[in-house]
Amino acid sequence: MRGQFITLEGPDGSGKSTILKLVGNYLRDKGIDFITTREPGGTEIGEKIRQIILDNNNINMGGETEALLYAAARAQHVHEKIIPALEEGKVVICDRFILSSLAYQGVGRNLGIERVKDINDFAIRGIYPDLILFFHVNPEVTLKRKIGKKSADRLEREGSDFHNKAYQGYMKLLKMYPKNIKIIDASKPIEEVFKQSIEEIENLLGKGE
Ligand code: TYD
Repeated sequence: MRGQFITLEGPDGSGKSTILKLVGNYLRDKGIDFITTREPGGTEIGEKIRQIILDNNNINMGGETEALLYAAARAQHVHEKIIPALEEGKVVICDRFILSSLAYQGVGRNLGIERVKDINDFAIRGIYPDLILFFHVNPEVTLKRKIGKKSADRLEREGSDFHNKAYQGYMKLLKMYPKNIKIIDASKPIEEVFKQSIEEIENLLGKGE
């Protein structure tokens, strides 16, 4: 039996990573067989690609290169980790997936949603998420914290124009692909965001009470 594939999406700093940990603890307590993973990365090869993408020295990187690198990391991730786990019947929870590329590269980098979708369709071999949790929060609020940090990576340093565009991209994508996407109000306190997330996950896993 194929497992279930859940991805978390949203602007930088929307709290996805914190929720990912909490959801992992919750599923563990329930005895559900699952893995958590993230993009870009998730495999040894993917983490190397991640370093290239986020390296602050790579300011000359073209948008097309960036989109292909994200797609290459994703292809390896699907091949090496996601498909095998789903085939073992596991729940796979992934921090970011194809929607991030459509929003950040397709709209943020002006490459076009369709063109970025084409290279990603090649990369993911038909493995679409069964559920996408979109963490809805205004990026103006969350980005200020990240951009100012010394540790900010190349993408975080792009500044608010790029990130606002990616956010507008997400808004467009929510309308284009409403199927399987559930919107979580990430401006709420973390306990509330966690509760909303669990409700959606339980609905998918058929354990909603
Ligand atoms: P991530 O590690 O998820 O950062 P954060 O935890 O701050 O959300 O992602 C790193 C950056 O990569 C983030 O700015 C979003 C960007 N990104 C893309 O532009 N395209 C993609 O396909 C993915 C997966 C991420």
